[in-house]
Amino acid sequence: MGKITLEEIVDQVNDLPALPHVVGKIIQLTEDPDATAQDINKVLNQDQGMTAKVLRLANSAFYGFPRRISSITDATIFLGFRTVRGIVMAASVSDLLSEEMEGYALAQGELWRHSQSVAMASRCVAQYSKFIGMDVAYTAGLLHDIGKVILNTYMKEAYKEVIDKAAADDIPFMQAEQDILGFNHAQIGARVAEKWNLPEDLVEAIAYHHQPEQAVKNKKLTAIVHIADAICLMMGIGMGVDGMLYPLSSESMQLLNLDELAIEQIISNMTDLLADEETFAV
Ligand SMILES: [Fe+2]
Ligand SMILES: [Fe+2]
Repeated sequence: MGKITLEEIVDQVNDLPALPHVVGKIIQLTEDPDATAQDINKVLNQDQGMTAKVLRLANSAFYGFPRRISSITDATIFLGFRTVRGIVMAASVSDLLSEEMEGYALAQGELWRHSQSVAMASRCVAQYSKFIGMDVAYTAGLLHDIGKVILNTYMKEAYKEVIDKAAADDIPFMQAEQDILGFNHAQIGARVAEKWNLPEDLVEAIAYHHQPEQAVKNKKLTAIVHIADAICLMMGIGMGVDGMLYPLSSESMQLLNLDELAIEQIISNMTDLLADEETFAV
């Protein structure tokens, strides 16, 4: 298997669907202090499929709202602009992430389940470590493995070689991925996030989710996604071919002030939340 050229990767990234127009508008609106819940409602109403998905997710156990949320206006008022922004993002990438990722041994729907779980765990870890920006953490977790969508095509042919290399040289999966393909899924995921014009610290968290020590812009955000990913892999959510093949960063644990007990508490919290199938509604 030859290495992939940068040109091929750029083409693949360009071929990815752009984020729906409404997502860009929602991001703008949620940053505008003058925007109202009605403005969000008006934009989302242009896309009925998206509206339905957003409402299903808004009503999942994860957000724990005691009454049924039946309109986008209510979702915005009760859950907040930032939370709705995260939900809109999830609704817009769920199809892309739901596809089978043969090259990573992930059945149809499994990468979506992993991504949504890591997003939720990121929000829990953020809350636990009093990180400002739980919703950015959610979105970073949601998109951390998006690069797999692109590398999947190449991994289909190369994965045995990658696994053998990781075992023979006793290196993490991503290093082997890099050695064999010339690229790794974290790096490619960051390119996708750049193409979607997402903020820099989000791009960084995706790029370094397996090497959080390398983050500089927002070390905590990257550490959160790293720990959340590890938690979901410990729980066996979306293990695929590479699930066990990453070291856990003790620096990240320290940076976020987390110990084993904290991880156990987050895992038990997650176990309850994951029981609700609405969480994975697509
Ligand atoms: Fe990853
Ligand atoms: Fe992951």
